[in-house]
Amino acid sequence: MTPPFVVEPLGAGHDRRGFTCGAEPLDRYFHERVTQDIRRRIANCFVAVDGVGAVAGYYTLSAAGLPMTDLPEEEAKRLPRYPLLPACRIGRLAVATTASGHGLGAAFVVDAVTRAMRAEPAIFALLVDAKDEAAARFYAHLGFRPLASRKSGFYLPVAEVARQVVATRQASGR
Ligand SMILES: CC(C)(COP(=O)(O)OP(=O)(O)OC[C@H]1O[C@@H](n2cnc3c(N)ncnc32)[C@H](O)[C@@H]1OP(=O)(O)O)[C@@H](O)C(=O)NCCC(=O)NCCS
Repeated sequence: MTPPFVVEPLGAGHDRRGFTCGAEPLDRYFHERVTQDIRRRIANCFVAVDGVGAVAGYYTLSAAGLPMTDLPEEEAKRLPRYPLLPACRIGRLAVATTASGHGLGAAFVVDAVTRAMRAEPAIFALLVDAKDEAAARFYAHLGFRPLASRKSGFYLPVAEVARQVVATRQASGR
């Protein structure tokens, strides 16, 4: 599988059965549980499809809250003293083994930021829980910062990423 990929909401026409990312719980969730979560409004799911419509990856997005106490003091003092900041959680994110290394994981994060910026309720940050050390390195590489409360939790302020995306697009004339 090679780019270009199109990212779109998961629909009935997408074939989920053949998807494998190398992490069995993430594959199983996508094969067996994701549609239930969508139906119950627990999560939305977005998939990347290649030129022939095969699913190259997926991620899920849900509303969440970021406790102010999870932010470093430097960042917290620039914000109003609300106990909980509005956030959006990337619950699961997975790229097919046959599509990895083409920038799709990073593109999912930009897609999530774009959706968070477009949402009518304001969203301060994206949240993720890294399932292991490799995933933590991946998120840290993309600019996510560690939460104070637990080692596997990370956040990414959406306004910062949105500014970077605009600057990159302007620099490349797009
Ligand atoms: C982790 C995963 C999502 C990466 O997806 P991908 O499409 O191969 O990643 P990308 O090609 O978008 O990589 C984007 C950048 O992150 C870097 N990167 C990727 N995986 C990394 C890792 N484990 N550690 C550090 N950096 C990593 C890439 O080198 C790339 O850097 P660059 O932009 O400077 O060139 C994918 O390997 C996967 O699905 N793994 C199994 C499931 C999983 O771990 N999900 C994480 C959620 S818990």
